[in-house]
Amino acid sequence: MPNDPGLYERLAGEWWRPRGVFAMLHWLAAARAELIPPARGAVLVDLGCGAGLLAPHLEGRGYAHVGVDRSAAALRQAASHGVHSVLGDVCAVPLADGCADVVVAGEILEHVPDLAGAVAEACRLLRPGGLLVVDTLAATMLCRWLAIGLAERIPRYAVRGVHDPALLVDRDALVAECARHGVELTLRGIRPSVADFLRWAAGRGESVRMLPVATTAVLFQAWGRKRV
Ligand SMILES: C[S@@+](CC[C@H](N)C(=O)[O-])C[C@H]1O[C@@H](n2cnc3c(N)ncnc32)[C@H](O)[C@@H]1O
Repeated sequence: MPNDPGLYERLAGEWWRPRGVFAMLHWLAAARAELIPPARGAVLVDLGCGAGLLAPHLEGRGYAHVGVDRSAAALRQAASHGVHSVLGDVCAVPLADGCADVVVAGEILEHVPDLAGAVAEACRLLRPGGLLVVDTLAATMLCRWLAIGLAERIPRYAVRGVHDPALLVDRDALVAECARHGVELTLRGIRPSVADFLRWAAGRGESVRMLPVATTAVLFQAWGRKRV
């Protein structure tokens, strides 16, 4: 079954392996963190936080890092990396309105059947003036082919069936839903650096940089502040 929630329980041992099947999530977390400004005494809510891969990138940046996920196995690991862990669904988060200075939705929206519900929840949690940071996969033929048809077949580095093509994110719908809740999004396409990837795959590099790319038709970041 595509997008099987049990997958994250079965693969719990993979989260923090830099060369495991979730390696790309580490690279994406680093790229996501670059969109988050330093703060003091601020709260960041990380929706679908998984095992807390964003945590090392927030160290010393002035945030209490609150992670919401429905995988208990992932949350236990997130907690061991300093994340205040909340077991729950991103469409019904047990946290107060406006509690967050920053809400992050990294590689989660393409796993959620109710895009409008997840966006509404993200924006509800955000205080006026707060920052929403998203990265996800676009609902396009190109993305289906690259991110599912091709990438999920790379042995050792990917998980077959992790994505359901029907849940890839319609960019216009994402922008419209965010706008409805007072957040004007800016979108930017990103891709892994090919040179870094080849070095990493050869066992030499430790990580792979994500670079901006002209199209948002595959993997993209989005960010915007909530209207005051
Ligand atoms: C691809 S992982 C991304 C994890 C993390 N954001 C990262 O980038 O490392 C997707 C995560 O979303 C969680 N998830 C999927 N659907 C969810 C839902 N409806 N509510 C809460 N968590 C969900 C999964 O358990 C998994 O940990």
